[in-house]
Amino acid sequence: MIVYYNGDYIEKKQVIISPDDRGFLFADGTYEVIRVYHHRIFRLDNHLQRLRRSLQEIEIDHMDVSFLRETGETLIQRNPEIARDAVMYIQITRGAAPRHHEFPDQIQPTVYAALSRCPVERNQIVRGIKIILQPDQRWGRCDIKSIALLPNILAAEEARRQDAYEAVFVRDGIITEGTRTNIAAVFNGQVHTHPIGHHILGGITRDIVLELCGKMDIPVIEKPISEEQIMLADEVFLMGTTTEIGPVIQVNEIKIGEGSPGPVTKQLRKAFQGLIDNPDQY
Ligand SMILES: Cc1ncc(COP(=O)(O)O)c(C=O)c1O
Repeated sequence: MIVYYNGDYIEKKQVIISPDDRGFLFADGTYEVIRVYHHRIFRLDNHLQRLRRSLQEIEIDHMDVSFLRETGETLIQRNPEIARDAVMYIQITRGAAPRHHEFPDQIQPTVYAALSRCPVERNQIVRGIKIILQPDQRWGRCDIKSIALLPNILAAEEARRQDAYEAVFVRDGIITEGTRTNIAAVFNGQVHTHPIGHHILGGITRDIVLELCGKMDIPVIEKPISEEQIMLADEVFLMGTTTEIGPVIQVNEIKIGEGSPGPVTKQLRKAFQGLIDNPDQY
């Protein structure tokens, strides 16, 4: 497997990362996960825009990430088998320097990008999935795509132990988002989802779903959903780069709606598939 590392395309096993890298020492960095369908990168511009914002917020702001388009194309050419249905992972850390909390004066960011096979089982999602609710123990800037993911990892592992696809966070009684997904619920044909702000990541898939709702005349209400309300929803679904649109049929031990993917979710999944199948929509 050929990956990109600080300007070079090399075998993954040849990558040598310094133990002084601040990504390793402090999780001082940011990342993106982007979908590649049939050798084409899906919505790259939106992901690069979010990456620029994350870099700016954590003050690694002297970097122009536009070159990553060419990096992605090269990775696809060099890994054609994987690039049929893959994710492109990009990580940028502040770089390597002797360990002090403050920003070092002279430092070059570390940039890594690689493709890997998409980890999600489509069949599992189509039938509908179970989620569990977990306390949101993350920091106050969940809008930044930080590589510090310990609370997400612990919650996702708990989901796996309870045979659930995803853990969804609850902060002060409010449903925020999943460990790697945003979440929406349907009440009387209206899609409700947490508003953009510091408590959720502005998901690219969430943006696309809201765009599709607009085109399909499905009303959207961006307001918080409580832990009690979600159990009463007609439908619930997850939104994320690897999950796409994931119908939720069970929250903890409670069945949602009829216990099978609902009509609004199915309609949105179909429209989303339409975007994937149409290269003009990339
Ligand atoms: C915490 C969190 N929320 C939401 C998402 C969904 O974002 P996107 O649709 O851009 O993949 C992710 C994606 O990894 C995430 O980590």
